[in-house]
Amino acid sequence: MIQYIVGVSLLLVSLIITVESRELADDVLKLPSQVSQFIHGDEKKDVDSVGTRWAVLIAGSSGYWNYRHQADVCHAYQIMKKGGLKDENIIIFMYDDIAFNEENPRQGVIINNPRGEDVYAGVPKDYTGDQVTVGNFLAVLLGNKTALTGGSGKVVDSGPDDRIFVYYTDHGGPGVLGMPNNPYLYADDLIDTLKQKHASGTYKSLVFYLEACESGSIFEGLLPKGLNIYATTASNAEESSWGTYCPGEYPSPPPEYETCLGDLYSIAWMEDSDIHNLQTETLKQQYHLVKDRTINQNTAYGSHVMQYGDTDLNKEQLFLYIGSNPANDNFSFIEENRLPSSSRAVNQRDADLLHFWHKFKKAPEGSSRKVDAQKQFVDVMTHRLHIDQSVKLVGKLLFGIEKGPEVLKVVRPAGQPLVDNWDCLKTMVRAFETHCGSLSQYGMKHMRSIANICNAGVDKGQMAEASAQACTRIPPGSWSSINQGFSA
Ligand SMILES: *[C@@H]1O[C@H](CO)[C@@H](O)[C@H](O)[C@H]1NC(C)=O
Ligand SMILES: *[C@@H]1O[C@H](CO)[C@@H](O)[C@H](O)[C@H]1NC(C)=O
Repeated sequence: MIQYIVGVSLLLVSLIITVESRELADDVLKLPSQVSQFIHGDEKKDVDSVGTRWAVLIAGSSGYWNYRHQADVCHAYQIMKKGGLKDENIIIFMYDDIAFNEENPRQGVIINNPRGEDVYAGVPKDYTGDQVTVGNFLAVLLGNKTALTGGSGKVVDSGPDDRIFVYYTDHGGPGVLGMPNNPYLYADDLIDTLKQKHASGTYKSLVFYLEACESGSIFEGLLPKGLNIYATTASNAEESSWGTYCPGEYPSPPPEYETCLGDLYSIAWMEDSDIHNLQTETLKQQYHLVKDRTINQNTAYGSHVMQYGDTDLNKEQLFLYIGSNPANDNFSFIEENRLPSSSRAVNQRDADLLHFWHKFKKAPEGSSRKVDAQKQFVDVMTHRLHIDQSVKLVGKLLFGIEKGPEVLKVVRPAGQPLVDNWDCLKTMVRAFETHCGSLSQYGMKHMRSIANICNAGVDKGQMAEASAQACTRIPPGSWSSINQGFSA
């Protein structure tokens, strides 16, 4: 026993010395209670927390109809902040066109839940507007300041003992994640960056939470074990993810909101993190709870939450990554703590339509607002039809009327990546967009078809020819215009 106490005291002294020399004020404040728990035989190990916790939070969309993604990111920030992470270690990417958007009924406020607490206050604006790019996101992860263009200059300047949490929420498609500025983020570039980060020896472990349609395809067959990375995704590789707290659904946002407030998987992990003691709750416990809530009682309004990478890491406690709010110290995880499911949710891809529809319905008869909303609705629908028909037609031109649709639909078995040659996929997307206009946020759903065109060995010239034949002109309109630029 005496040896034990001496051992612990030595450990305490050495911890304090290490911590002081590194001037980690937050960790000094945490030490007394946690070390006393250690002395009293509590299982919580504090020895690990000498490293710094880093968080990168990114909303990949813009536009009021995508309100929910930036609301998710702001909410995530509040969790990290209450959990004890320092602003200098939290890096935020958000377009920042929501809080003061003319459509926002509460100016300067963003909510992520019908109850409506503001989550926007205090959020650091590291990368906003045209700074929210693939280049900046990957540079921030790698801690490479010279590769940045604009923004606060904050990067994940991490060391070997540090833990990193990354949360990405947006639209996506097979193998791709959206960005408010072109190009989009392709899975291979993200995975290469994670490998590079691992090779630089600048983290102990990394947790990646990802909300997007077909988000499983970002890691499926691509994220190797051994990088000390644990990822969970809102959906498997073949299904959409879901918006929630949408107008007309239950629970619905306050009546003045004509947009969804959150996303199903995202609010599941965040509303859990809001209330539980994350010093005791493990990543695995949260995964199960989030999975249950996101499948939404196996209705059509839910998706399958997945795990990838070094899944053993999920036995670690959440506070190692996102801290823990001291106010929740007495609220431990218990299985029955299940949060309520929503009765319905809205497919990510239809949330924009829902916004324009509610805007249209509520606008006074004969108002310019009504005319605007109708025009926006028609624009979106026209773009969707154009993209769907063009992709289908390209398939038929390449593989024949019968075989075309079959080839485009093929889904590779689980465990295999979407495409073998990512450069081919990007080249094909570019060839298509050159003739048919931007895929844009909705058109990302066709990435699998374009990947299958690559997998079938079609070359760039054939693809360009088929696209030129399928699309004699690019229709005008904000969604399909060539002004959107290329997504690859
Ligand atoms: C950082 O980015 C710059 C510019 O892209 C690049 O030249 C350099 O090699 C990168 N540094 C490291 C350490 O990767
Ligand atoms: C937790 O419970 C203890 C003992 O009942 C109490 O002293 C403490 O104030 C509580 N902490 C919080 C944050 O509510």
